[in-house]
Amino acid sequence: MLSEKSRPVIEATLPVVGAHIEEIAKRFYLHLFETHPELLDGTFNRGNQAQGTQPLALAGAVPVFATALVQHPDQLPENLLSRVAHKHASLGIVPEQYQIVHDNLMWAIGDVLGDAVTPEVAAAWDEVYWLLAYTLIHIERGLYSARGVRPNTVWRKWEVEQKIPETDEVVTFVLKRVDDRLVKPSLPGQYITVQMALADGTHQPRQYSLSRADNGEFCQFTVKHVHGGGQPDGEVSTLLHTKVDVGDVLTLSVPFGAVVLDDAAGRPMVFASAGIGITPMAGMISHLATAGSLLPVMLLHGDHNEDAFALRRQVIADLAKLPGASIYVWYSHGGGSQLPVTGVFSGEMDISQVHLPDNAVYHLCGPIPFMHEVRSALIKQGVPPKDIQYEVFGPDLWQADYE
Ligand SMILES: Cc1cc2nc3c(=O)[nH]c(=O)nc-3n(C[C@H](O)[C@H](O)[C@H](O)COP(=O)(O)OP(=O)(O)OC[C@H]3O[C@@H](n4cnc5c(N)ncnc54)[C@H](O)[C@@H]3O)c2cc1C
Ligand code: HEM
Repeated sequence: MLSEKSRPVIEATLPVVGAHIEEIAKRFYLHLFETHPELLDGTFNRGNQAQGTQPLALAGAVPVFATALVQHPDQLPENLLSRVAHKHASLGIVPEQYQIVHDNLMWAIGDVLGDAVTPEVAAAWDEVYWLLAYTLIHIERGLYSARGVRPNTVWRKWEVEQKIPETDEVVTFVLKRVDDRLVKPSLPGQYITVQMALADGTHQPRQYSLSRADNGEFCQFTVKHVHGGGQPDGEVSTLLHTKVDVGDVLTLSVPFGAVVLDDAAGRPMVFASAGIGITPMAGMISHLATAGSLLPVMLLHGDHNEDAFALRRQVIADLAKLPGASIYVWYSHGGGSQLPVTGVFSGEMDISQVHLPDNAVYHLCGPIPFMHEVRSALIKQGVPPKDIQYEVFGPDLWQADYE
């Protein structure tokens, strides 16, 4: 609980911290990697640093978390922190690292705000940091324990059994466990972190959604080759596309991820995806098909054209196992559909073109502008925000859950 002493200090300094938070986040990361360069070898994603998206995500999150504490000093924003805790767990973050982050963050606040950081101000922000840190450590401990791992045992070896070209840009990897230790199956919608060795001798983590129900012996993920368009090509997706083949062994974390399907309430499920955003949807639909679900399921998918629609045969086959399931597609570059879909439209996805089931739960995945559009349209139709979940393929710069 945020103390009565710190609350007014945080309230008074939130505007100035908020106004400088991007600069604080930038300097924080520079200082962190200067003092702890090992964190760029296997822990932090250097693509997100190069693009500036992770500093922006942190800069967005800190004022939101601090505001939540000021408004409800007796409640911890656990729901807001859950997404972060899953990401941390998939990277094997340990409690001892919170002191390192603390020291560098407080250094950056002092460096940017200078004399404005009186001992009283520093003490109040210190309290906010540790409230968040202990909440995260607590959630992460629960996540590790539910998976039956410790932070240093999240990593497991898997052998590539199949590498399946899906489209010109997308491949699917089917992996079999070659590690003695048991891996509990994922919850529908979860991801793994792949830890790749790079040519410069360092390691880089990237998250990939599980694109089919797994069973502890086999798992599957699907990767789009990221081209730079003027910037460097994506490091890990390029390696996975061009260097990794059948028989190679990959290091993956056990599955984590806060955005999971909850079919216990028995409500209709609507999945809306665009492009490579199909992957968690395919995973969730595969779980429903494997479980013999009787829930009404609808998939709405937008893509360039049918050839660009990754995992299309798998999802259509899985949907065929679900009574009454439907699939509508939108192709921005037309061409119609050869495959048996319920409806095909040209152009961008427009949910007013289909009749959505009453009282449904929604899952979105795709570029943020796409999800923003669909979410706004759903809310306009009266869908409560709490019934719309979304997955972002990168640091969450949207933070719609935090609204
Ligand atoms: C929860 C989650 C699930 C995901 N699921 C999937 C999935 O199922 N399938 C999938 O394909 N992806 C998925 N992703 C995305 C994936 O984790 C990677 O981000 C993606 O593969 C790109 O990684 P990369 O190493 O190839 O690119 P990176 O090397 O990380 O590059 C990313 C971008 O940064 C740009 N860049 C690099 N250097 C610079 C620079 N100096 N200046 C400016 N820009 C630069 C690159 O051009 C590129 O556009 C998921 C992400 C998350 C968080
Ligand atoms: C109170 C303390 C902390 C807060 C509030 C915090 C917050 C965040 C946030 C908001 C994200 C982005 C999540 C997303 O949208 O994907 C994130 C990711 C991350 N955090 Fe933390 N974090 C904290 C502590 C730590 C610690 C101690 C470490 C250990 C070194 C750490 C390492 C990471 C890493 C490696 C990522 C993923 C970065 C990436 O993929 O670019 N964090 N954290």
